[in-house]
Amino acid sequence: MPRLLRFLLIPAFIFTIALVYFVSRNHYQIGNALSSATRPIWDKAEGPTDIVTHYYAEGLDINGSVCALHGWKERLGSRFKVIDAILMSTELDLLEIRMNELDPVVDRFYIIESNATFTGLPKETSFALNRQRFAKFQKKISYRLVPGYPLEPGQTAFDQEANTRDQMTKLIRSHMAEFLPETQSLVIMSDIDEIPSAHTIELLRTCDFGQSIHLQLRNYVYSFEWLVGFTSWRASVHRWDRDTFYRHSQSSNTILADAGWHCSYCFRTIPEYITKMRGFSHADRIGGRLDLLDPKRIQDTICRGKDIFGMLPEAYNYVDLFSKLSLESATTAVGLPLFLIENAERFKFLLPGGCQR
Ligand SMILES: *[C@@H]1O[C@H](CO)[C@@H](O)[C@H](O)[C@H]1NC(C)=O
Ligand SMILES: *[C@@H]1O[C@H](CO)[C@@H](O)[C@H](O)[C@H]1NC(C)=O
Repeated sequence: MPRLLRFLLIPAFIFTIALVYFVSRNHYQIGNALSSATRPIWDKAEGPTDIVTHYYAEGLDINGSVCALHGWKERLGSRFKVIDAILMSTELDLLEIRMNELDPVVDRFYIIESNATFTGLPKETSFALNRQRFAKFQKKISYRLVPGYPLEPGQTAFDQEANTRDQMTKLIRSHMAEFLPETQSLVIMSDIDEIPSAHTIELLRTCDFGQSIHLQLRNYVYSFEWLVGFTSWRASVHRWDRDTFYRHSQSSNTILADAGWHCSYCFRTIPEYITKMRGFSHADRIGGRLDLLDPKRIQDTICRGKDIFGMLPEAYNYVDLFSKLSLESATTAVGLPLFLIENAERFKFLLPGGCQR
């Protein structure tokens, strides 16, 4: 029955062509969806596993008794200096919220900025251009501009990122000399969007937690309207020694619970989303799909709390995975940084109901 065969072959052929076209256009997203959907099987959660229960209520006097509650001893002798070491991006709003939150407990802010993204594209030096916004912290700020360069063949964004962290290590080392030799320092190592709460730093300054500790942060996307979970662990605080270096990787198995906020993709304008999607170290996630950079699609994504790269969220067990597929929009703004709430009108885009950019 050659006739019937031919009759069947034509739709089969068309279907195959369509399938090949769809897969080639979306191969990156399909691969990602498969690896995300099976992640609970092949991957284990990264990060520290020894979680220190965190005790705090507004007005608590953080003293030796509170240290004991956390299983720590109160520090005796001279007061530790606290340094907040920040790699600047374009996120001026988060920087302002961060510096105001930490100002009461931080002695120095070290800020490093580059004129290129980690992928080597030129970018504005946001901090240098907006210094007057941070004038009230002027006396505490040490700033260094690190010239960026286009990636050489064989180099990746991760090399550029590592180089920038190296520069921060050098900046901290060169400044340690200005403190009296007997003055000990704590260094906060966290990205600009990973903001420890002031009372957390007060606790770590008062109590001897050891050489280093990670900070578990509430992880939000787009604004404080969308809480993903308590999944952020890379931020850390270190007692600075001669061989300490500035890092964003695991340095200890101990992590202090609920120690602040990590607001990912919390930008004021749509162009910042596009710059970030092109510029950061996971830029391969775009996978050649330029339509992902469409401003209307990004705006819609922000208002619906969906993953910006159109991927399934990373999760390590199926309960988690399904609970993250659709985030629930928050109707509370309790327990957020003080400066954010005091300036709610200016920072409306970071608060529930303010998703329109
Ligand atoms: C800590 O503060 C509380 C409340 O102010 C007080 O009752 C307690 O005695 C203090 N503990 C120490 C070790 O100073
Ligand atoms: C960054 O600044 C340096 C020094 O001013 C300059 O040589 C370099 O070309 C700049 N890089 C970019 C990507 O603009």
